[in-house]
Amino acid sequence: HSILVLHGPNLNMLGLREPDHYGNDTLQAINQRLQEQADTHGVTLTTFQSNAEAELIARIHDLARHPVDFVIINPAAFTHTSVALRDALSAVKVPFIEVHLSNVHTRESFRHHSYFSDIAVGVISGLGAHGYSLALDYAIRRLQH
Ligand code: DQA
Repeated sequence: HSILVLHGPNLNMLGLREPDHYGNDTLQAINQRLQEQADTHGVTLTTFQSNAEAELIARIHDLARHPVDFVIINPAAFTHTSVALRDALSAVKVPFIEVHLSNVHTRESFRHHSYFSDIAVGVISGLGAHGYSLALDYAIRRLQH
C-alpha cells in the first residue's frame, strides 16, 4: 500500500512560522515521524511540499499514472482559494483526508470555507502536527481492511 502526503504553501516554514498557530515542529520532523509510522505498518509513504499551485496539481495528476491508495493533504492557504487543486483531486479520484494544524474555525472568517472538505473522506483541524499522524493511522487502518 502507498500513501502520499501533500503540503501546501508556507508549510516549509513550519517551526519558524507563527508557532502559536502551527507549533514548533519543522516540516522535516513531521515528515520523519510519519515515515516511521508508515514503515512500522509496511506502508510506502511519500511526502511532497510546494509553494506553487501548479506543482501541487502536477503531483496530483501524476497519480493517474502512478496511483496511491490514499492522500493526506494540508492545502494550507489554497484550502480557501483553489478550485483548481480540488478539481485535480476529483480528476484522479483518490480518497483523501484534509488536515490543518490550526483550528481554522476559530480564526478569520476567510479560513472557514474550504474547497476540499465536502469531497474529503474526513477533515482534521486544530490538533497540530498530531493531526497528520491521526490521519495516517486512519488511512492505514482503512487499507488493512
Ligand atoms: C493551515 C490553515 C490555513 O488557513 C493557512 O493558510 C495555512 C495552514 C493549517 O494547517 O492550519 O497555511 O492549513
